[in-house]
Amino acid sequence: MTVATKKTAHDVKDLSLADEGRRRVEWAERSMPVLRLIRERFAKERPLKGHRLSACLHVTTETANLVLTLKAGGADVALCASNPLSTQDEAAAYLVRDHGIAVFAIKGEDHATYYEHIRAALAHRPDVTMDDGADLVGSLHMIALKRLDDLAPPVRKWVESLSKDERAALLKGVLGSTEETTTGVIRLKAMAKDGVLQFPVIAVNDSDTKHLFDNRYGTGQSTVDGVVRATNILLAGSTAVVAGYGWCGRGVASRLRGAGSKVIVTEVDPVKAIEATMDGFEVMPMADAAPRGDLFITLTGDVNVVRVEHMRRMKDGAIVANSGHFNVEIDLESLKKAAKGPREARPFVDEWMLDGKRVFILAEGRLINLAAAEGHPASVMDMSFANQALGAEYLVKHVKELSKDVHRVPAEIDKEIARLKLAGMGLAIDTLTAEQRRYLASWDLGT
Ligand code: NAI
Repeated sequence: MTVATKKTAHDVKDLSLADEGRRRVEWAERSMPVLRLIRERFAKERPLKGHRLSACLHVTTETANLVLTLKAGGADVALCASNPLSTQDEAAAYLVRDHGIAVFAIKGEDHATYYEHIRAALAHRPDVTMDDGADLVGSLHMIALKRLDDLAPPVRKWVESLSKDERAALLKGVLGSTEETTTGVIRLKAMAKDGVLQFPVIAVNDSDTKHLFDNRYGTGQSTVDGVVRATNILLAGSTAVVAGYGWCGRGVASRLRGAGSKVIVTEVDPVKAIEATMDGFEVMPMADAAPRGDLFITLTGDVNVVRVEHMRRMKDGAIVANSGHFNVEIDLESLKKAAKGPREARPFVDEWMLDGKRVFILAEGRLINLAAAEGHPASVMDMSFANQALGAEYLVKHVKELSKDVHRVPAEIDKEIARLKLAGMGLAIDTLTAEQRRYLASWDLGT
């Protein structure tokens, strides 16, 4: 239930967690030097002054640092969760109690509460939205396209209570959005292709300083962390099957190998499959990998990648987890029909009995790194959220020039984030000499 304290509307688990939240947010801040520099500049220049910003992101300590940066820039921020299991209740409490941020997020919230919180973020009447998986933008578009039946009930009921003018104002008020993750960007590009995208979107995920590091090293480490925290299994000597060899899959496969697992990769893209092979992994279809694996992790952004037909072929006691954005990569609906269960074996570990064998599903198929661990380390979120903050600044400054399409963060901003990160890491690199610059720009100097 949404409550309004003295001045801040919010719905968080327990405000008395705020002290612990402050300690954790400060701990993350130590590893976020680029975001800190941006916050200092934002506090002076106030580039987001007068803007109402609704963010639907994983409510973590790193996100708290982003929100404080946006607030320093002058934005009036509301924050809701982009996944029912990823909220860190301490960080949420801290933002409300000590910073007056309107936060709507509780770890473990049910489907109706999740969408009640999306509703609250929309009711903030944002002119800029920030998404991780396009749930805010998706809802706004269902309203714009008058597809109210496709809205979750709490949002739909609220929209129906608005007058025609209020609905129009809600949509007309939005200048644009930013999007954090691969799955969200794919959805938004599909909307642009169908000609239904109503405003420009900045695809933060497409920045080099985002996906090359966050998706690969952040997801790589934190996914393994989530599996180990949930199960405490020994990885050394185990056989792990990684579905998808994109940025996230590459990271997870390499970290699992580092921990001593024998790694099998499944793919649908022939180029990625060759890459995985040449990186030294076994590549085969899921049906062939199923009897071999002790642990399965999906990172494809696709639907029903691990199906009951695969689970029937797995060893007794196989562990299946997902770290892709949505909980659709493991076909749980069919498992529910075919298997007995679930029985909670440990927190985030459900035991199902299928044909007399046990299959363990982690975190109900939701992203394991955020459900059972703490998500990406702050050092990598520093660059992702530098892109979010600078992406939002760019959006409001340049909105008149931006078409209703999906745009990248400009390359100069991307490079500048890399330069600042290098400096923060105490590293220096060479610069081109005048001769080298001339040579690299010329075509007439050959053999
Ligand atoms: P990507 O597009 O780089 O890679 C996805 C890969 O999966 C592609 O190589 C594709 O060919 C492959 N694939 C698609 N369908 C498949 C199937 N049926 N079987 C096997 N492989 C298949 O995407 P990226 O950046 O690696 O993201 C993957 C997912 O992880 C997305 O949903 C993204 O939003 C999410 N993500 C999750 C994070 C987390 O914190 N857990 C962080 C960043 C992204």
